[in-house]
Amino acid sequence: MSKKIFSGVQPTGNLHLGNYLGAIKNFVELQNEKENECIFCVVDLHAITVKQDPKKLKKNIRETVATFIACGIDPAQSIIFNQSMVSAHSEAAWILSCVSRMGWLNRMTQFKEKAGKDKEKASIGLYSYPVLMAADILLYDATHVPVGNDQKQHLELCRDIAQKFNNDFDVMDFLKVPEPLIQKQFSRIMSLKDGIKKMSKSDPSDLSRINLTDDKDQIINKIKKAKTDPLPLPSVIDNLTERPEAENLLGIYSSLKNQNLEKSLMELNGKNFSEFKEQLSEILIERIMPISQEIKKLLEDINFLDSVLLEGSDKADKIASKKMKKMKELVGF
Ligand code: TYM
Repeated sequence: MSKKIFSGVQPTGNLHLGNYLGAIKNFVELQNEKENECIFCVVDLHAITVKQDPKKLKKNIRETVATFIACGIDPAQSIIFNQSMVSAHSEAAWILSCVSRMGWLNRMTQFKEKAGKDKEKASIGLYSYPVLMAADILLYDATHVPVGNDQKQHLELCRDIAQKFNNDFDVMDFLKVPEPLIQKQFSRIMSLKDGIKKMSKSDPSDLSRINLTDDKDQIINKIKKAKTDPLPLPSVIDNLTERPEAENLLGIYSSLKNQNLEKSLMELNGKNFSEFKEQLSEILIERIMPISQEIKKLLEDINFLDSVLLEGSDKADKIASKKMKKMKELVGF
């Protein structure tokens, strides 16, 4: 059955292996099941929930588009667009924020993590981030939303918001309740420096992540320096408990090879880490280098990237403004 796919990525720089394996790789697979309608958004309104340098933001928006295309998203097949270029996102977010409850948002763990100790100083935008995310999804009647594991709670909230709007305005199925698409395995890639911390754009140590723009030497160096433990690799899965770094590196290896952990463990057959790391570097180079080279090439043609956004935003605007019009009527505007 065909699916309506919607997902977004923030243009905050340093797109990394976690973004690729947790999300973008799946965007491409879903697009390649030809019957799906796919929409991928560069969520710049979300990016400014924490302070951004305007010049860098502009550069990062183009870099995100280049990354989408370099990873295999085809602008002729999928809509690639920029959130701030479609005004319905901000309008819908406001209406939905009047439907959402403070109690729901107070439970969001990502806000707690991002706001840190001094919550009073966090922006209101950061607090209501998940409501804007719900607006993104619901404007397009998306049926499925591919994301990494860290977005699970936000998608549950999106479903609650959709149901509450439908109830409040007595419309059975106006906002479609979407299904999250989160891979069963490898949907949370961890830092190379600490196996219990998520791989993240905002980690101050560049050694904690493989960026999609890294070159061969950087990949080899980062894998060489990745944290491990003194034991050899286990040959069965049970022996991975309490070994988060080993589990993470094996997860990356398996995900890149499109195979489950059991198969990887059998293949690697109790190797020591230095041998395994060589193999891991090789496969990373094989997968990441073509992407990083293509990103560099695409970034030389800013006009092309801007035209992709312009065309995509036009198409997105046609869909979103129609939904927005109906939403306003329902509210009584
Ligand atoms: P962002 O830019 O933080 O992340 C983009 C995608 O990458 C996934 N991801 C990871 N997956 C596995 N392991 C990791 N270490 C890792 N780090 C990031 C995220 O889960 C995400 O899928 N809030 C969204 C952006 C958004 C959105 C939307 C998504 C805005 N509106 C509507 C879906 C639908 C986010 O996390 O962006």
